[in-house]
Amino acid sequence: MKHLLSMEQLTKAAIIKILNLADQMKYEQKNGIAHEVLKGKQLAMIFAKPSTRTRVSFEVGINQLGGHALFLSKSDIQLGSSESIEDTAKVLSRYVDGIMIRTFDQCDVEELALHADIPIINGLTDSSHPCQILADLMTMREYLTVLEGKIIAWVGDGNNVCQSLMVGATTMEMKMRVATPVGYEPNAALLDRLGSNVLLTHDPKEAVAGADVVVTDVWTSMGQEAETKKRLEVFAPYQLNRELMNLAKDHAIVQHCLPAHKGEEITEDVFNQHAHAIYEEAENRLHAQKAVMALLMQ
Ligand code: CP
Ligand code: NVA
Repeated sequence: MKHLLSMEQLTKAAIIKILNLADQMKYEQKNGIAHEVLKGKQLAMIFAKPSTRTRVSFEVGINQLGGHALFLSKSDIQLGSSESIEDTAKVLSRYVDGIMIRTFDQCDVEELALHADIPIINGLTDSSHPCQILADLMTMREYLTVLEGKIIAWVGDGNNVCQSLMVGATTMEMKMRVATPVGYEPNAALLDRLGSNVLLTHDPKEAVAGADVVVTDVWTSMGQEAETKKRLEVFAPYQLNRELMNLAKDHAIVQHCLPAHKGEEITEDVFNQHAHAIYEEAENRLHAQKAVMALLMQ
């Protein structure tokens, strides 16, 4: 593995390797055992969109591994209109040991990787969020012990997080059911590729019935703010509420990548009841990303 650009590039063995190392990192951090495998290494973090978890967990993570992070917002660097992705990749490759990038177009992350001599890590694009899914799979494994055969229900927008989860779930031999409003389905070619492993429905009840994990996300992703009003109406029947959760398995957990808009995609009571697993999922971003950085940047 040279880069982490998408879940598609990860085999089941590669995911298990990352999750096992992430579990070890978590254990070591909680027990005060240093794991400074990236001593002296520099990570550039490029953010064209805002972030709480991704920014903080990468920065804290590389510090814990003995390295250092540089935060580069859209207004801090020339990338984009004033400098090409190719030149940015070639120049940054001479200063730092890895780049984490959060941006809009997946093609920009792939172009960066094409021209860089250092590992590129996708910290979210409009179409994918692999770091999130590694943390989600880590959390699901903690709560459910085994992933194979488990059923994930997605309720809401067929967005970046949904699409990466569809791929990760399929690779880990889990089943996924995705319930979205008409017109907000995940990418059709991706659905085709994943075949019968992912069931697409417009009925949230069909998706959630008997599920082990129920997942949702904001109705309006970053970059779609102009559609907020329309989305609030279209997605209203897709709220994760008590009535819907009652259809899931008794031991079912809820996952939400956060930020959450309580009262919109998830009710406050469902969030609060499942807050432990949701905050654990957020914490696991740190451990999973430390594993990814350790594997890519050593
Ligand atoms: N889940 C997630 O990526 O959160 P941030 O947008 O805060 O980084
Ligand atoms: N789908 C959301 C995820 C945020 C972590 C977005 O892209 O804004």
